[in-house]
Amino acid sequence: MKILVTGGAGFIGSNFVRHVLREKTDWEVVNYDVLTYAGNLENLQDVEEDPRYTFVKGDIADRKTVVEVLRSERCDRIINFAAETHVDRSILDPGPFLRTNVEGTQSLLEAARDVGVERFIQVGTDEAYGSLGEEGYFVEDSPLQPSSPYSASKTAADLLALAYHKTYRLPVVVTRGTNNYGPYQFPEKLIPLAIANAMRDKPVPIYGDGLYRRDWIHVEDHCRGLLAILENGAIGEIYNIGADCEKTNLDVIRTILKTLGKPESLMRHVEDRPGHDRRYATQAAKLRSELGFEPEWSFDRGISETIRWYQEHRSWWERIIQGDYRRYYDDQYKGRLEGGGARREGDAG
Ligand code: TYD
Repeated sequence: MKILVTGGAGFIGSNFVRHVLREKTDWEVVNYDVLTYAGNLENLQDVEEDPRYTFVKGDIADRKTVVEVLRSERCDRIINFAAETHVDRSILDPGPFLRTNVEGTQSLLEAARDVGVERFIQVGTDEAYGSLGEEGYFVEDSPLQPSSPYSASKTAADLLALAYHKTYRLPVVVTRGTNNYGPYQFPEKLIPLAIANAMRDKPVPIYGDGLYRRDWIHVEDHCRGLLAILENGAIGEIYNIGADCEKTNLDVIRTILKTLGKPESLMRHVEDRPGHDRRYATQAAKLRSELGFEPEWSFDRGISETIRWYQEHRSWWERIIQGDYRRYYDDQYKGRLEGGGARREGDAG
């Protein structure tokens, strides 16, 4: 089996490439990635020499090149991780999200049609379902109510993939995963940002009251779910991927500070994200019953190993933080942390 992994230099993509090379000794992997700010070949340094691994630099929106790669490499299946993924950046500037996530996916679907593949996995997000109240869970046929430009663009990509199945019989499977955490996550997302800030004794920004709830899955469990779907998922179907691990942001941040031996005075409530979804909670019962998926990572073990990874790979994230990322961070947080509204956990009011 030879697979084309698009976006394989990003966080989940690079973990997936490594997972497949480890689990499937007779598979080959072509990593096709345009290397935008969050794509980093350093994430895959340990597999570079593996003869079963090939890297090709390219954009999913460049249909001609994708077709050439699919033909010359003779890829059997495609899994699409290539995406702009950060909600806060999508609020600052939605354009790149539509271009990559919607137009890029459509172009990739066309390339897959041109060449013909056994299977096309569109990696999606549970954010497509929008926000829950106190009760209930997302299931695969929950209404789609995305709130941010990011989630709207990913939902559009899902729907296009499903439409390509219905209209052109392209063998598509769509996944909707919960919030991921683990090694190599870009430090703009909550968990790596909180770890990197706390390790440097910098304040950890908490949007609003911090009682927003996310459903967390360790990236390796997500990769196991995706591999099961890539091998045996039913064509034309949607699979949620989750690990039943709902936490408030305050709980997550407190755990990180405690593990690092840092004081809770680093917690800073800042102005909230506009359109902030209150709660995500996703049932992966279909993946469990149809494909035998069982998550292996508890949150306690996952978060402590993730923290250890960031401690042991300080140069990896410090290089990112010292680069272009700094401008984004300052735009996003400087005013919020220093100016109006920032409040330490425990302050009155
Ligand atoms: P994030 O990691 O951006 O993922 P998503 O928005 O896709 O769920 O954010 C996770 C949660 O953490 C979300 O409720 C927003 C919140 N958050 C903070 O409170 N502070 C931060 O600095 C960041 C990045 C996120």
